[in-house]
Amino acid sequence: MKKILVTGGAGFIGSHVVRRFVKSRKYFVVNLDKLTYAGNLENLLDVEKDANYQFIKGDICDSELINRLFEEHDFKGVIHLAAESHVDRSISNPMEFIQTNVVGTVCLLNAAKDAWKEKESRRFYHVSTDEVYGSLRDKGLFTETTAYDPKSPYSASKASSDHFVRAYGNTYNLPFVISNCSNNYGPNHFPEKLIPLMIHNIRNKKPLPVYGKGENVRDWLYVEDHARAIELIFEKGINGETYNIGGFNEWKNIDLVNLLCDIMDRKIGNQQGTSRKLITFVKDRAGHDLRYAIDASKLNEELGWKPSLQFEEGLERTVDWFFENEQWLNDVTSGDYMKYYDEHYTNR
Ligand code: NAD
Ligand code: TYD
Repeated sequence: MKKILVTGGAGFIGSHVVRRFVKSRKYFVVNLDKLTYAGNLENLLDVEKDANYQFIKGDICDSELINRLFEEHDFKGVIHLAAESHVDRSISNPMEFIQTNVVGTVCLLNAAKDAWKEKESRRFYHVSTDEVYGSLRDKGLFTETTAYDPKSPYSASKASSDHFVRAYGNTYNLPFVISNCSNNYGPNHFPEKLIPLMIHNIRNKKPLPVYGKGENVRDWLYVEDHARAIELIFEKGINGETYNIGGFNEWKNIDLVNLLCDIMDRKIGNQQGTSRKLITFVKDRAGHDLRYAIDASKLNEELGWKPSLQFEEGLERTVDWFFENEQWLNDVTSGDYMKYYDEHYTNR
């Protein structure tokens, strides 16, 4: 059984990745997570007692801890997801993003470089975002050769970490792969991102804050499809390569929010149109990227991956999950959540 280190495994995407790898029975998974506001061990209750799973609370910027972990465990691979991940928070507090996303990534790279004397059959997998490519107008798609042009502090920090991974590959022969994925949605999504925030607010009959005119476009992918792509790339990808992952599923924010309102009205038993009345157009995000769209054909042609779910089915599953996991939602929205929410949406 291969021992691997997953970072950020208590977060949204990380928890789906951890579950997938633990349940495959091919790996012993060490999950290192700092448990920031976005990390939650409730996401992993079903695997926490598994014999091939271990959780360690810690910071990827703590180089002493990271070096010790690499000495103690003979990791065959790293799947690096730990990050600060929310664009709005990066606008109000960029330093935290530089610390975790850039410095933390370099800490991990250093430890892997020093510990992996023989590099055969090792792999550093860096999980990144399509936002590093910047913003598109109406036409065109991001491909793996699109020039980097990050425009938010979040995407700039992720772009920087991607560059460091490639630099360690080039300079120290560190075996790596990178994937750049579009917007994920699904169970365990923290309710500060568009889809879970809207679900939470519709349930509570609160205003649905749509930035600007709601005309920005995102490509959406169900989180389990992303986790499946990560497993495939980790096992079959080629060292030094980059793979774009996307849903072939572009939506204008306002159309998505309307669709979500209609799905939720049907499930709640409301008259159609009830939740749409909650939509409130608020001040736009500073430097708001207009459109992201991914060409994921390389991953399809080379490794045979494609999304498995239609968007409406994925949204239905997501809404059902939030209805069935009221306690989870209550837990993550207690504590500092309302403070962030009130501060963020005041003056918009
Ligand atoms: P998330 O915010 O839900 O989870 C991040 C996790 O990292 C949390 O568990 C948090 O506790 C942990 N963490 C944060 N700082 C840490 C530190 N210093 N040390 C150790 N752990 C730390 O994020 P997510 O949405 O699951 O994203 C995971 C990764 O995927 C990120 O690298 C993100 O850039 C990338 N990504 C996300 C999306 C998306 O739509 N959410 C799309 C493409 C790529
Ligand atoms: P988000 O989920 O934060 O992901 P990202 O900014 O990384 O793409 O936002 C998705 C889109 O939804 C983005 O165009 C911003 C917009 N948005 C709103 O209109 N209202 C909101 O309350 C949030 C959080 C996002």
